Amino acid sequence: MPGGHIELVSLSKRFVDMAVDDVDLVVSSGEFFSLLGPSGCGKTTTLRLIAGFEQPTAGKVLLDGADMTNVPANKRNVNTVFQSYALFPFLDVRENVAFGLRNRGVDKTTIRRRVSEVLELVHMTSFEKRRPGQLSGGQQQRIALARALVLDPAVLLLDEPLGALDAKLRRSLKVELKALQERVGITFLYVTHDQEEALTMSDRLAVMRAGKIVQMGVPKEIYNEPADTYVADFLGVSNLMEVDVVERGPGAACKVRLGESVLAADYGGEGTPDRAHAVIRPERVRIEPFESASGRDEQAGPNRVPAMVERLVYLGSSTQVMLRLAAGMQVQALVQNDGDQIHLSHGTPVRVHLAPDALRVLAGEAISPTGEDLDTEKAAQHSLAG
Ligand SMILES: Nc1ncnc2c1ncn2[C@@H]1O[C@H](COP(=O)(O)OP(=O)(O)OP(=O)(O)O)[C@@H](O)[C@H]1O
Ligand SMILES: [Mg+2]
Repeated sequence: MPGGHIELVSLSKRFVDMAVDDVDLVVSSGEFFSLLGPSGCGKTTTLRLIAGFEQPTAGKVLLDGADMTNVPANKRNVNTVFQSYALFPFLDVRENVAFGLRNRGVDKTTIRRRVSEVLELVHMTSFEKRRPGQLSGGQQQRIALARALVLDPAVLLLDEPLGALDAKLRRSLKVELKALQERVGITFLYVTHDQEEALTMSDRLAVMRAGKIVQMGVPKEIYNEPADTYVADFLGVSNLMEVDVVERGPGAACKVRLGESVLAADYGGEGTPDRAHAVIRPERVRIEPFESASGRDEQAGPNRVPAMVERLVYLGSSTQVMLRLAAGMQVQALVQNDGDQIHLSHGTPVRVHLAPDALRVLAGEAISPTGEDLDTEKAAQHSLAG
């Protein structure tokens, strides 16, 4: 077995409330796994339990099949990279990276070789004589990574390692980090509240809420098939529309009433209450002209609802279009600026096509875990993610 297999069995940690609440999770050797969730949902606590900095209230942590309950932090084959890099300010880059090996009493020749190897790996060889204060945030982050990698852990726990960086640097380091993980082949357990990071880097991810895992799967599955409104909302901008389920089946399909219209949805006929939410991603909302070229109101076709353009936000490669449905709710569409789109401006009447395969009816309240409304920044991030 290559090592780096993590298993959490009914793991719980109570401080005042339950910070981690009965979590079961298996991360395979060499997997890039992310824990995604809002502030306070228990991500860091989960990492600290695995690293051995906290003792569980109940349940256990297994590493490569061995129970870690009585194994102290320094005897576990895991290493942590924190959001704050905590480099030694008076040591240069090379000495910072070498520190852990020296501490372990590794011989000088091996240290020299290993440090050179990992500096190469994070593309920091030419900076080896500099001190942390002479490096940019992204460069310091790479040194923090190198310092963890040099110890050759089977598991690397990363707690929002890119959190302190600006958006552009975050994007480029994200790509590097993923490539690096594939090259070194060690298990990465990555913690973030950034959905774009989790979606683009992970082999699999788990969405957490109040200490519990609410959904686990590959990024595409979680993005396209959110289990409830919480996940849908947290995984980027989603339109949540309150609907009544008026017909169930066949299979997972159903029909819902949205204002005056009845819409077909391919998913949501099972296990949803009669009063539920229909969810659709902005990039799946299609805007069609309200009137045909002849000036006659076209036969609307199924799953179309009348709406009016309320606001347009230019985002570069796409335009965010805020629409007000006749039924009253606001829906956001993301239109690619590819030259094909119909002319829209404030007040333009349109038809909105909500295709059945893009429409999912979910249980759960219409909450926004980040406390944000549908906003431009999230939409912009989202369009970059796509
Ligand atoms: N040492 C502690 N004592 C008491 N409560 C704690 C302690 N550490 C964490 N908590 C609480 O446990 C919950 C989970 O905290 P945790 O740090 O795991 O959240 P997080 O998901 O990492 O959040 P963030 O994204 O803000 O870092 C929070 O409600 C927090 O206040
Ligand atoms: Mg945290």
